[in-house]
Amino acid sequence: MSEVVFPPGFVWGTATAAYQIEGAAKEGGRGPSIWDTYSHTPGRTLNGDTGDVAADHYHRWADDLDQLAALGVGAYRFSIAWPRVQPGGSGPVNQAGVDFYSRLVDRLLELGIRPVATLYHWDLPQELEDAGGWPARDTAARFADYATAIVGALGDRVHTWTTFNEPWCSAYLGYASGVHAPGRTEPAAALAAVHHLNLAHGLAGRVIRELAPAAQLSVTLNLHVIRPASDSAADADAVRRIDALANRAFLGPMLDGAYPADLLADTAGVTDWSFVRDGDERTAAVPLDVLGVNYYSTTLVRAWDGVSTKSDSDGHGRSAHSAWVGSEQVEFLPQPGPHTAMGWNIEPVGLTELLLRLHREYPDLPLMITENGAAFPDEVSPDGAVHDDRRVDYLRRHIAATHDAMTAGADVRGYFVWSLLDNFEWAYGYDRRFGIIHVDYDTQQRTWKDSAHWYRTLTTTNTLP
Ligand code: NOJ
Repeated sequence: MSEVVFPPGFVWGTATAAYQIEGAAKEGGRGPSIWDTYSHTPGRTLNGDTGDVAADHYHRWADDLDQLAALGVGAYRFSIAWPRVQPGGSGPVNQAGVDFYSRLVDRLLELGIRPVATLYHWDLPQELEDAGGWPARDTAARFADYATAIVGALGDRVHTWTTFNEPWCSAYLGYASGVHAPGRTEPAAALAAVHHLNLAHGLAGRVIRELAPAAQLSVTLNLHVIRPASDSAADADAVRRIDALANRAFLGPMLDGAYPADLLADTAGVTDWSFVRDGDERTAAVPLDVLGVNYYSTTLVRAWDGVSTKSDSDGHGRSAHSAWVGSEQVEFLPQPGPHTAMGWNIEPVGLTELLLRLHREYPDLPLMITENGAAFPDEVSPDGAVHDDRRVDYLRRHIAATHDAMTAGADVRGYFVWSLLDNFEWAYGYDRRFGIIHVDYDTQQRTWKDSAHWYRTLTTTNTLP
């Protein structure tokens, strides 16, 4: 195989999120978020794990940034905890919270690493959930106020502002299947959450444009690559439905300024969408500089016959309630082939297909892979090393798949590994390790896995090792 070389200026990075790494849940004036409440509710997370301490990044941030610099990356994607900035989700800012992120950004800049900041990676202040959460319209207005406060403070020291990370998860896992915080199982509320997340994206996007005109504006979506089990018309329709709920429910308003008609028709039995007001869809469609894409796996569906036992392997966690509101007639099938510790099938070509689809549908919009990576049970060897060959293989194949899409014309500007560090993997707690740097949760010691050494070779040569 010939060498896989990336163009000069292609950005290599790593990604994290506040609740997954920071810990210090009650320090520095931070208020409670829905993930504090959820993880402290018995039975919600594996082993009852919480983010109370996590990777203790709140105290170790400076050392962690040194690790980043040693990795040779050009960018770092992190998220800002809303409950650190506004502990109750509204009202005056908590200066200690703002200062934490301000120091982080300054140090990144000193190290020559681009700050890529996400405003919302799932940690809604609990008080706002108590007032209705994302199904309530007012939450979108509160989000715009929060954006005003933090973007006003950090401005264009942040190179790229991302409004939301994976709003799909916030809406459907948070409010329909309940496998994420706040754990509600209300289909109509999930669709109202979809809309208010879209609206909040547009409102905050406008704030970012105004207060940080030199910064790039983006959003990160977990777009699904959906495959039909057969070439029947019924299976093609199952794909169309899931594409509408998973992908076009966000791409439509955010990029085209309208919800797709088939989404509204498919879900008419769940809600009449009367929470969408005149002008909302146009508000959501704030022009973006770059679209963030998170990719891990593919999804296999077929039309359910309504009789046989329904398989529900959508890879998004087990619940008696479906995340896929209004789509009871669709069945999610387990996939053949190798899987990661999340049970997700490994299919790098899905990433090429996704990037090329986006390139075809939105030819002028640059793309950035804001997450890609894999959980495997890492074994620390007696010599202290972590030989994570499967992760290296996963990363190598997905980065090659990215290059394939670029060769075919996709405008991909960068790639971020999920994740810099092992961290709190939501409902799976500390049991699933995604880091290229191992964390010993007893001592908080950081150890480079083989994948970190491998990634360093890539970031410093721009050539796939
Ligand atoms: C997507 C999410 O953004 C991140 O928080 C999560 O840890 C990874 N995927 C892995 O599941």
